[in-house]
Amino acid sequence: MFDFRDLDRPIIGAPMAGGPSTPELAAAVTNAGGLGFLAAGYRTPEDLAAQLSAVSALTGGPIGVNLFVPDAFQPDPALLDAYVASLRPETEALGVEVGQPRYDDDGWDAKLSLVLDARPAAVSFTFGCPDSQVLKRMADAGILPIVTVTTSAEAEFAVAAGARALAVQGPGAGGHRGTLDQRSVPTDDRLEDTLAAVRSVTAVPLAAGGGVSGPSDVVRLRGAGADAVQVGTALLLADEAGTNPLHRAVLAGGQFAGTSLTRAYTGRYARGLTNRFILEHSDAPAGYPHLHYATAPLRKAAVAQGNADVAHLWAGTGFASARPEPAAKIVEALA
Ligand SMILES: Cc1cc2nc3c(=O)[nH]c(=O)nc-3n(C[C@H](O)[C@H](O)[C@H](O)COP(=O)(O)O)c2cc1C
Repeated sequence: MFDFRDLDRPIIGAPMAGGPSTPELAAAVTNAGGLGFLAAGYRTPEDLAAQLSAVSALTGGPIGVNLFVPDAFQPDPALLDAYVASLRPETEALGVEVGQPRYDDDGWDAKLSLVLDARPAAVSFTFGCPDSQVLKRMADAGILPIVTVTTSAEAEFAVAAGARALAVQGPGAGGHRGTLDQRSVPTDDRLEDTLAAVRSVTAVPLAAGGGVSGPSDVVRLRGAGADAVQVGTALLLADEAGTNPLHRAVLAGGQFAGTSLTRAYTGRYARGLTNRFILEHSDAPAGYPHLHYATAPLRKAAVAQGNADVAHLWAGTGFASARPEPAAKIVEALA
């Protein structure tokens, strides 16, 4: 079975759903000696199948696939309704309607089958820990099952369920936090401290990520016990990334000073550039994927209209160091 310690360069190209992760980006990271990832989240199973076949034509090296674990959590209807109502002035200004809040499992069973058929080197899970049967099926098929965790308690739980490796995500990470329970407020503990705590409860290989902006971060996290370092934001401007033009422009343009953790867009905590929407909608309740669907038309319209005040602009705390370069150069520089 694949092991992070087999990589020529200890760098993992983080899965980034919503566009940035492409087969070209995943293959470029792998071909540079790291581990590239496809992001299956939000995609239809048909899309994922096409991406799996595209990536296999671009590289013969190890590839990972990332899946969102379904969470049957039911948001408080009164809080959900009030929040959805508060979005109306935003949607009216953009000329769209609020989306219908709803639950779905993101095509879980179909995507698991596709992964089992394609047998990538690794599969990583976020937004929860799959049951032990799922993790065992992956391991039995020779696919390294990785679970994303943010605390040592989550790490113990995931390893007990059958995770053979962990993606330990720190507070500076761009995009969604992988906390197993969406109702819990993500920890602010330093990634090195969480890594040390995780190391004290398990011997499985660890990838660590969140806020990595350069090679000194990689050295620091490797020194703190990480077998590989996972980077997302550093690859958002890579030539091969599918990052949308607005997201690229604001990352390259430097008009935002910082990032914030917010539930405003999806009902699950995620880190993005601190824009007006985040500042004015800090009252969003827990409710993923319900709020993801409620804000979908608004997010899509904001991106299409180039509206950075409203669009979701996921970024980690190291965003100012992202550079528009081939992914191989970014991986080489980090390693
Ligand atoms: C735009 C974007 C999308 C992301 N999408 C996913 C995803 O689909 N699945 C996942 O496990 N993590 C996702 N993440 C989180 C990354 O896996 C990783 O934890 C994070 O990028 C590391 O922090 P950094 O962005 O500071 O490098 C995403 C991050 C970003 C920036």
